[in-house]
Amino acid sequence: MLDGKRILLVVAGGIAAYKSLELIRRLKDRGASVPVILTPAAEAFVTPLAAGALANEPVHRDLFDLTRESEIGHIRLSREADLLVVAPATADLIAKMVNGFADDLASTALLATDKLVLIAPAMNPRMWAHPATRRNVAQLLADGIHMVGPNAGEMAERGEAGVGRMAEPDEIISAIETALSTEPALIAGPKALAGRRVIVTSGPTHEPIDPVRYLANRSSGRQGHAIAAACAAAGATVTLVSGPVTIPPPPGVTTVSVETAGEMLEAVEAALPADVAVMAAAVADWRVARAAERKLKKPADGASPMLELVENPDILATVGRHHTLRPRLVVGFAAETNDLVENAMSKLARKGADWIVANDVSPETGVMGGDANTVRILSAEGVEEWPKMAKEEVAERLVAKIAATLDQAGTT
Ligand code: CTP
Repeated sequence: MLDGKRILLVVAGGIAAYKSLELIRRLKDRGASVPVILTPAAEAFVTPLAAGALANEPVHRDLFDLTRESEIGHIRLSREADLLVVAPATADLIAKMVNGFADDLASTALLATDKLVLIAPAMNPRMWAHPATRRNVAQLLADGIHMVGPNAGEMAERGEAGVGRMAEPDEIISAIETALSTEPALIAGPKALAGRRVIVTSGPTHEPIDPVRYLANRSSGRQGHAIAAACAAAGATVTLVSGPVTIPPPPGVTTVSVETAGEMLEAVEAALPADVAVMAAAVADWRVARAAERKLKKPADGASPMLELVENPDILATVGRHHTLRPRLVVGFAAETNDLVENAMSKLARKGADWIVANDVSPETGVMGGDANTVRILSAEGVEEWPKMAKEEVAERLVAKIAATLDQAGTT
């Protein structure tokens, strides 16, 4: 599908630039033409000669290279491309893109384009985790820019590990293909969510009373885990934040295990930014104000102990109303035993969600802890009723709906 496509590759200055040479080769193998812009810093890592030989055309290096400027012009360079890829996208170039700087050829071409742009960030894990980078990346995602990676792993610096490695060339190519495919996903294919970042919460939370007792609920985590698995199968980068469950973590997903609502909120915030958040956990609404440090004993006088409860933070509402890092699509669940649609509708507004997946958890339905689910999807557009189906099928259909919605948003 890349045959005849023109992919403008911007290479910024980072050690991952060596992988961009491999990316050029693989794009050429697929029949794409690959004009390349090297930033001055990139030239410290790869030579214009090597990049030009692989691309089979001279690379573009300097905004004020007058001969070439008259031949092509940076505006034409980005106008003629079907898609722009920035790989590696350094913290510095990302910051420039956010602010619309145009002080060299790379940043100018990126500002002068109205084409799809895909970034493959690569940097030191501490730079990636820095609030400035997180803010910047969230802004680019909000601007509709696609992103692939970064991955977790060893860094070039000795002894450094964490999230910051550039995605592999094949992953970047998958993300390019997804970005270029205009067909909306009717059923989620293996690449329907490639390049998307998804956070899923799942399971119950346990709120300690004392070291051996806790408040909990009957959630098994099956629906949330199935959604995380389906998102990963559709090519998304998935962080699953799970309360205590007995089912195994799904393959291909980064699972963060937590106990309490407070820990769940912290893990979700740490996983931002994301394109999509699906909050399927049955979070305990209350916790014990002061959990005892030692096991509570029965009072000698036979009196019943009193537990003072305080409200837990609302994770869905925190994400849905986030000022800087709100995902493009925020999906909540509503487990109700009565007045399903009214209760779920009020949650939609109250929690700042785009959709609420509402299900009837009355004991006779067997939903809580069971295999099947009957759901309704509520949104500003109205109510969609889905027939009774396995939780895995609910997950599949939800992922297809998510992919179609993101694709639509990306092309309008
Ligand atoms: N939720 C959350 N954090 C909480 C409580 C709920 O993120 N502290 C999320 C759930 O993951 C779910 C949605 O909010 O996506 C609705 O959960 P539900 O328990 O049905 O709603 P509540 O806000 O608890 O309302 P109520 O119990 O009064 O019906």
